[in-house]
Amino acid sequence: MLTIRNLEKDYGGVPVLERISLDIKEGCFCGIVGPSGCGKSTFLRILLGQEAPSRGELLLDGVPLPNEPSTERGIVFQRYSVFPHLTARENLLLAHDFEGSPFLGRAFGTRRREAERMADQLLDRTGLDPARDRYPAQLSGGMQQRLAIAQALMKRPRMLLLDEPFGALDPGVRLEMHDLLLELWREHGMTVFMVTHDISEAFKLSTRVLTFDKVRTDPQFPDAYGATVTYDLSVDGTAFPDNIEKDDPNAEAG
Ligand SMILES: Nc1ncnc2c1ncn2[C@@H]1O[C@H](COP(=O)(O)OP(=O)(O)OP(=O)(O)O)[C@@H](O)[C@H]1O
Ligand SMILES: [Mg+2]
Repeated sequence: MLTIRNLEKDYGGVPVLERISLDIKEGCFCGIVGPSGCGKSTFLRILLGQEAPSRGELLLDGVPLPNEPSTERGIVFQRYSVFPHLTARENLLLAHDFEGSPFLGRAFGTRRREAERMADQLLDRTGLDPARDRYPAQLSGGMQQRLAIAQALMKRPRMLLLDEPFGALDPGVRLEMHDLLLELWREHGMTVFMVTHDISEAFKLSTRVLTFDKVRTDPQFPDAYGATVTYDLSVDGTAFPDNIEKDDPNAEAG
């Protein structure tokens, strides 16, 4: 589905990413780990189209990805800013409005009813239904994060980009979020890229784990080289029984 060829990214002549080539299958759950500052968020921003690569190719179904965010790609940041003046349900409906008509705003008629149906379904699936009319400030961190994920899913993205989505959550809520994310991933058949600092989380959830790091370093010039993919591991399920059949997004849970 996604082909990346010799992708490189510099900021003001300083290389951040270099020589990244990957083929990503539709439905893959790609975990991304690596030291702080190695370019993981930069890589996600390039996938999102928020940032252009300095060199190299990025093809979706063989066609160059447009350098602007589109509804094919949804993103959830570590601290996602849902709109504070809108309730949980209104936040979801707004995500849908923006997609349909970014300048006009609200959707009407059939489109509106479709959006409401989707919002209610997602509120239900993320366990936020009882909190549908609450404002973000009245939600816990875990609930806000579920709302952010629901908001990204309102656009039915083919690709879901998650940048340390559970970093701020306590361990119990994290485990609940893992289950929810895996269920939604299977249901929607999405391709997921998830950056995390937690290696066990990456192996638990992913079908493929990519590690980013610098392979070349020059002590005289620490900025001379960028990071690349140092390991590309297929998680086959033998070592991680939780992972069996995760390559098939439509596979039954369990
Ligand atoms: N807009 C920008 N302008 C200049 N330099 C940038 C910009 N964005 C990122 N960088 C630099 O690129 C490098 C990679 O940053 P990035 O945020 O992608 O790292 P990361 O792997 O996500 O780190 P962390 O794990 O701490 O989130 C850093 O050295 C950062 O300073
Ligand atoms: Mg980052």
